[in-house]
Amino acid sequence: MTAEAEAASAHPKLPRHVAIIMDGNGRWAEQRHLPRFAGHTAGVEAVRGMVRACAEKGIQALTLFAFSSENWRRPPDEVSRLMGLFITALERQVRKLHQNDVCLRVIGERQAFNPKLQKLIDSAEKQTAGNQGLNLVIAANYGGRWDIAEAAKRLALEVRSGGLDPEAITPEHLEPYLSLGSLPEPDLFIRTGGEKRVSNFLLWQLAYTEFHFTDTLWPDFDRAAFEEALASFATRQRRFGRTGKQVAQAQGY
Ligand code: FPP
Repeated sequence: MTAEAEAASAHPKLPRHVAIIMDGNGRWAEQRHLPRFAGHTAGVEAVRGMVRACAEKGIQALTLFAFSSENWRRPPDEVSRLMGLFITALERQVRKLHQNDVCLRVIGERQAFNPKLQKLIDSAEKQTAGNQGLNLVIAANYGGRWDIAEAAKRLALEVRSGGLDPEAITPEHLEPYLSLGSLPEPDLFIRTGGEKRVSNFLLWQLAYTEFHFTDTLWPDFDRAAFEEALASFATRQRRFGRTGKQVAQAQGY
């Protein structure tokens, strides 16, 4: 391996950014003859475990799909209790996140949330904005198509103001306007709960991401399950359109 390749691969097989669809809370509760909401409460504990694990490993970013723009279709009682859970989680956890140097950001259309929740989100983001540790991104009332449409809107405004020639537009012009901004794209996408689909999560940003699907229900997604996902990721050869031989040569083998 060349010195350059070696330097570039201090942690050659650890993802910089992990994105997760946390599915299976409802089924976890039903299996235990508990109300569905108990599954979401247990899901918060799994979130805490995952944040801790990523911070300890020095992973740069963790993005969690907490509430999709389609989740408003759930029974009103479940939606309202989920909102309550987000509020409680923010009230209880932000100080701890800040102490642990975590930078928290929420992506999605937050105007749809009640004013109390919006205020808590704004204040949590402000409080942790300067932190240098794990970037924790919570996708709430988020949709991948919405994200792309919003970026397109902002690009159109740039064109209208005369700042950009529409003929010159490339994918790179859109990227800074997407919700994840300057964070690296996810290297590893995990979906728990057995379904094998992307469900309008980070559609643009998952273009070259490695996928890991597991039947484990989100509240049961513990350290061991995460290690399994990381081990699977470590076996993947990421080619970004190149041949396997080219990739091996670039890595100095
Ligand atoms: C999907 O399980 C889960 C959700 C829609 C909510 C996710 C929320 C949490 C894990 C808790 C809060 C998170 C934060 C960041 C504070 P499901 O209800 O669709 O499960 P099912 O497929 O078994 O019905």
